[in-house]
Amino acid sequence: MGASYSYGKQTIDNDDIQAVVDALKSDWMTQGPTIKKFEDALNSKLGGAYCSAVSNGTAGLHMIALGLGWKPGDIILTVPITFLASANCILYAGATPDFVDIDPVTYTIDVQKLEEKILFYRGKKKNIKAVVAVDFAGNPCRWDALRELSDKYGFQLVNDNCHALGAVYKGSDKYSAEYADAVNLSFHPVKHITTGEGGAVITNSKELDEQIKIFRTHGMTKDEKYLERNDGPWYYEMHKLGFNYRITDFQCALGISQLNKLDSFVKRRREIARFYDNAFGGNEYMQIPEQTENGNHSYHLYPLRIKHSKLKLTKKELFSSLREKGIFGQVHYIPVHLQPYYKNNFGFKEGDYPESEKFYSEEISLPVYPALTDKDLEYIAGTILDVVNGGK
Ligand SMILES: Cc1ncc(COP(=O)(O)O)c(C=O)c1O
Repeated sequence: MGASYSYGKQTIDNDDIQAVVDALKSDWMTQGPTIKKFEDALNSKLGGAYCSAVSNGTAGLHMIALGLGWKPGDIILTVPITFLASANCILYAGATPDFVDIDPVTYTIDVQKLEEKILFYRGKKKNIKAVVAVDFAGNPCRWDALRELSDKYGFQLVNDNCHALGAVYKGSDKYSAEYADAVNLSFHPVKHITTGEGGAVITNSKELDEQIKIFRTHGMTKDEKYLERNDGPWYYEMHKLGFNYRITDFQCALGISQLNKLDSFVKRRREIARFYDNAFGGNEYMQIPEQTENGNHSYHLYPLRIKHSKLKLTKKELFSSLREKGIFGQVHYIPVHLQPYYKNNFGFKEGDYPESEKFYSEEISLPVYPALTDKDLEYIAGTILDVVNGGK
């Protein structure tokens, strides 16, 4: 069996293992002090005022939706090129999802089309409640323009930042909570840092943070300001329906150890991206990813576009040839509006978001993770070029 390359993979070293072992030997497996330490470390890295570490990124989005008060009748916009969870959180709150196409160059929300959609709804005497913008692949959205629209039209702004730890916008790696009302992170093993499963919500709003912390643990509160009465030190009340969306202490110990290495992980991801840029840039059958103006991509993904319309090579043929040679690319993403659930329940159809659909027909996510060596990259890039050249 030769080498095998997936599109993403965790990097775990002895420090990480030791950190988890230490946590397992401590008094706390869950609901202990390591959770707050991880939250503080995330805040100091990302510049948010408040942070709640949670069981996964999907749970984070669910609680953001509830904490921001989304409800039936509210219209929330996101993009088709994202993971299901960015849109599903709208449904969890009973609100109505709609989409805005992606920009064909940055693959993030097209700000001009967003304003057109807002005006379309205004024409029908409706306002949109919120936008879930995704820093797709690690490339920041045009956050200054999004904030301007949010202030102008009065909608809430969520940054689904699951792809973009370590990204920089306008010179700052602390941009996410500066522009968005709530920021969502995921620590799944393919992401920049991992806790196995895990996530976090960052915000500058004390009120939202309090809500997230209450939802995270069954809707329970011991906070005097909410209590109807107080029977004693054991006493808690439930005013809202919450969940068990907690993360454990040993996961957070891993998270702290991983976060210490984020800068070096991102540095290597950028080097890998430059390698691919050099290998594929200028090739008439390919399109390399471009960065948002004033942004510095952190390459959770390297989405390469293959111009199948100019080749005799279909996307299926490309994937099976690469798999035979040990390269397990992925496609990010099947446009969410084309999922049967969204088509059948909301009437979305093919042709609704042409840039997203074209992107889906061309995209392949190449292997990007810190452990890839230059020799691995030479093999991967050389194999892709061979397969594509064979399809001319
Ligand atoms: C953009 C985006 N949002 C949300 C999620 C959900 O995160 P999790 O897998 O931690 O639930 C993911 C995970 O892949 C994602 O890529």
